[in-house]
Amino acid sequence: MASEKPLVTVTCTAPVNIAVIKYWGKRDEDLILPINSSLSVTLHQDQLKTTTTAVISKDFTEDQIWLNGQKVDVGQPRIQACLREIRRLARKRRSADDKDPLPLSLSYKVHIASVNNFPTAAGLASSAAGYACLAFTLAQVYGVEGDLSEVARRGSGSACRSLYGGFVEWQMGERADGKDSIARQVAPELHWPELRVLILVVNSEKKLISSTVGMQTSVETSPLLKFRAEALVPAHMAEMTHYIKERDFQGFGQLTMKESNQCHATCLDTFPPISYLNDISRRIIQLVHRFNTHYGETKVAYTFDAGPNAVIFTLDDTVAEFVAVVMHSFPLESNGDKFLKGLPVRPAPLSDKLKAALSMDPTPGGIKYIIATQVGPGPQILDDPHAHLLGPDGLPKPTA
Ligand code: DP6
Repeated sequence: MASEKPLVTVTCTAPVNIAVIKYWGKRDEDLILPINSSLSVTLHQDQLKTTTTAVISKDFTEDQIWLNGQKVDVGQPRIQACLREIRRLARKRRSADDKDPLPLSLSYKVHIASVNNFPTAAGLASSAAGYACLAFTLAQVYGVEGDLSEVARRGSGSACRSLYGGFVEWQMGERADGKDSIARQVAPELHWPELRVLILVVNSEKKLISSTVGMQTSVETSPLLKFRAEALVPAHMAEMTHYIKERDFQGFGQLTMKESNQCHATCLDTFPPISYLNDISRRIIQLVHRFNTHYGETKVAYTFDAGPNAVIFTLDDTVAEFVAVVMHSFPLESNGDKFLKGLPVRPAPLSDKLKAALSMDPTPGGIKYIIATQVGPGPQILDDPHAHLLGPDGLPKPTA
């Protein structure tokens, strides 16, 4: 008889994604169902990722979870929803297969530890990578196969898009139970190898309204949001898919910027109004447009989520010059931190003509640092036992 394993340990990683067609607003708060479809680019895990270890054991007496080394309340509704969902799927699968009777492991408690390889303080969205990683890792532990959108989505809507690499859409679906609200890959990781992503981490003090609360107020009060979701986003989805398939940077970049601007316009249309962008964000927007005007084409594009950080899309041949433009406009204030992180970039010299075209007074220290990255793959399973964040006793390893 096959012996019941006393302990199952799995460690996985999952990526961050950046939406180019924005998700902003839910039609069902509990199931986390959106009012419109959205589309994102999965970022490379060499630069930004969440790593999660899950352990199940018959000896554990309760579910426990540690985030970035700190024990957190496993009773949080969204964590509970993910755990409930994955155990339901596991049970469903097992009962559909007569030869595989319900194993004890389904009643075992789970210990989970999760860390990000980027500072949470940078204000970069970590919930998408975090919940995608949670869903993916739990699926390995409980032997659940197939689409995990409904598990990740219950943690954070945008998390379902981090279940795949490359370019990913989250189809809003129509059903009230959300079964058709799923993520799907639009194009694979290596489809557009020249595409690059620069994350400009903006210095900001202000505490922001979370996406969850912000979009809730927008749904309640913004007629512009309703119009956008119903009348504009369906066409944007089709156009964006086309631009990605054709690797059309002009189209992709312009629609990315318009989408971001429109999403932030619905925030201003919210009552009381919400503004996530700050003066530095607005200067970056101006800089991008002046750069593009100088060249007479869209060479760089920005997008902003629920915070002042800019995410810039460009092609590999423009990275060195645009990074130099950013450094020229936001000279480094010595903060002891490395300014250029991620993929190696050597800033190119700027012509006087370009400097004149930018015509902007420098804002020292406006940007804390830049992370250069590219399109990347979906979640990965790590085979190396050294990668586990939890030890054989199911508790965080001292380094985790
Ligand atoms: C602006 O997925 O964080 O980043 O579903 O409430 O957890 P919840 O919200 P979340 O919202 C992301 C909003 C956004 C746009 C996007 O990623 O599409």
